[in-house]
Amino acid sequence: MSTSHDPVERHYACGGLLSAIVEALRATGKDPSRLTLADLAPVDEFHVRGREATAELAACAGLTPGLTVLDVGCGLGGSARYLAEKYGCRVTGVDLTQEYIETAQALAAMVGLAGQAEFRQANALELPFPDETFDVAWTEHAQMNIPDKEGFFRELARVVTPGGRVAFHDVFSGPGGEPRFPVPWAEAPDISHLAAADEVRALLERMGLRVRMWEDTTARTADWFEVLLERFRTKGRPPLGLHLLMGPSAPAKFENLLHNLREERVTVIVAVVERPER
Ligand SMILES: C[S@@+](CC[C@H](N)C(=O)[O-])C[C@H]1O[C@@H](n2cnc3c(N)ncnc32)[C@H](O)[C@@H]1O
Repeated sequence: MSTSHDPVERHYACGGLLSAIVEALRATGKDPSRLTLADLAPVDEFHVRGREATAELAACAGLTPGLTVLDVGCGLGGSARYLAEKYGCRVTGVDLTQEYIETAQALAAMVGLAGQAEFRQANALELPFPDETFDVAWTEHAQMNIPDKEGFFRELARVVTPGGRVAFHDVFSGPGGEPRFPVPWAEAPDISHLAAADEVRALLERMGLRVRMWEDTTARTADWFEVLLERFRTKGRPPLGLHLLMGPSAPAKFENLLHNLREERVTVIVAVVERPER
């Protein structure tokens, strides 16, 4: 358990996470000294539609070798490592949760990407980088714990170069009413801060960012989740999975998230916005 004073960090920190992952890898027959990114994907992509979603967003974000990418709220760093390996980007991941940062660093070293994907603890609302440091700011499933949407997106836009992009895959409120709790990002409503996607889009446009791509993926996310949960019901949960990050209420969090998606209590958006050239 985390002793952090920050309720969001307390929610995410588990204690002993790296050992639990290594043990689960061994239980699935993987040798931790010979890991690939695919071996880690079941646990290091802490968002709906896993690696599939990361690959889709990456394909839309205009990534090329050598570009610098900041992954904000990077969690265990699965997306950061993927962008480093698949696109040859130099990726920096930041996250509030110190245990996730330590785990991300260890996992990057285990797959030989420590030089290309680096991680440090930081709050998304106070990014420790000068203006215009990165070509791309990337974020998946972090802002739902952050009430100050304007502050969040202003920080991301601040650290990208003119002509640079902010790419995100995120959860928003929906027309179906309040979400059922617990969900993966919160046991209860106190640390869940969902905004309406349309309002966030209007905010981004008011900030002068240009929307290059905006897709509502709620329906196919629900389909994906349904297949995943059905597989768990029939074949059992594999040892390596997101349940390692979600504590004893993991089964309820999975079921509620599926209901929330189907009932449109939450919606999911994949988007790329651009900071205009000067
Ligand atoms: C659901 S996880 C997603 C992790 C990662 N982006 C992924 O998709 O695998 C949410 C992450 O956001 C981080 N987070 C929440 N609020 C944050 C903040 N204010 N600053 C930085 N990270 C934050 C949490 O610590 C957690 O790691």
